[in-house]
Amino acid sequence: MNDRVLIVGGGRGIGRAIADDCGDRAVVWTRSTGVDAADRSSLDAAFATFRRQHGAPWALVHTVGDFAEQPLLGTDAATWSAQQRSNLDSVFHTIQAIVPAMVEAKRGRVILFAAAGADKQKAMLRAPVYFAMKAAVIQLARSLAAEVAPAGVTVNVVAPGLIDHPHSHRDSQARMLPRVPAGRLGSPADVVAAVRYLLAEEASYVTGQVLTVDGGLQV
Ligand SMILES: NC(=O)c1ccc[n+]([C@@H]2O[C@H](COP(=O)([O-])OP(=O)(O)OC[C@H]3O[C@@H](n4cnc5c(N)ncnc54)[C@H](OP(=O)(O)O)[C@@H]3O)[C@@H](O)[C@H]2O)c1
Repeated sequence: MNDRVLIVGGGRGIGRAIADDCGDRAVVWTRSTGVDAADRSSLDAAFATFRRQHGAPWALVHTVGDFAEQPLLGTDAATWSAQQRSNLDSVFHTIQAIVPAMVEAKRGRVILFAAAGADKQKAMLRAPVYFAMKAAVIQLARSLAAEVAPAGVTVNVVAPGLIDHPHSHRDSQARMLPRVPAGRLGSPADVVAAVRYLLAEEASYVTGQVLTVDGGLQV
């Protein structure tokens, strides 16, 4: 049976760590591999090839999502559009391109990425536009979870806190670190553990949930 895990945005950081954990089962799409997740035609072309080779994926993990740290009134229209493209358009188009095949196959797991605190409906002064986009991702995930549950597909969200990797926003993370009750930044491995659980057989009845991995930052 096909057990491929399609990781959209798995070229570096958290997505790369997930891909490494999945080993031979992982298929990675990024702009560097020729796939723009915010462009439906790019996704469709890549998925046509994927489907011919592998059929429907067992799991879809979407980790694309640029961070922009700016106050709301200091955010220009170009940043707004770029944030929307990266964090929201890419989720919408990826879901629409891939999930119907999983529904048809009547099995599968979808994991989307938000950020710790995005489900709390409170002020997010550090990055209000980014968190608004991530709140929308969570809302889309909940709706999708109910829509595809009859087909045996689960949909969940992982919400990382401050995860340290070579491309993460280290200045911002250093400023926030004193507010992390656990007293340390998270590692990609901390997030991989959450993804591993959501992909496991034991999680087949878990859907529409947000799994926060933040050392208590947003408790
Ligand atoms: N790191 C953290 O501390 C943290 C905290 C909270 C939430 N998150 C969320 O967790 C997720 C992963 O974060 P990360 O820090 O690992 O991200 P990252 O280092 O920015 O990596 C993003 C990956 O996505 C790919 N990508 C970007 N735009 C793309 C597009 N339009 N189409 C296809 N691929 C694209 C990039 O490769 P290419 O450039 O080759 O396309 C890269 O491989 C994101 O959703 C992020 O918002 C991260």
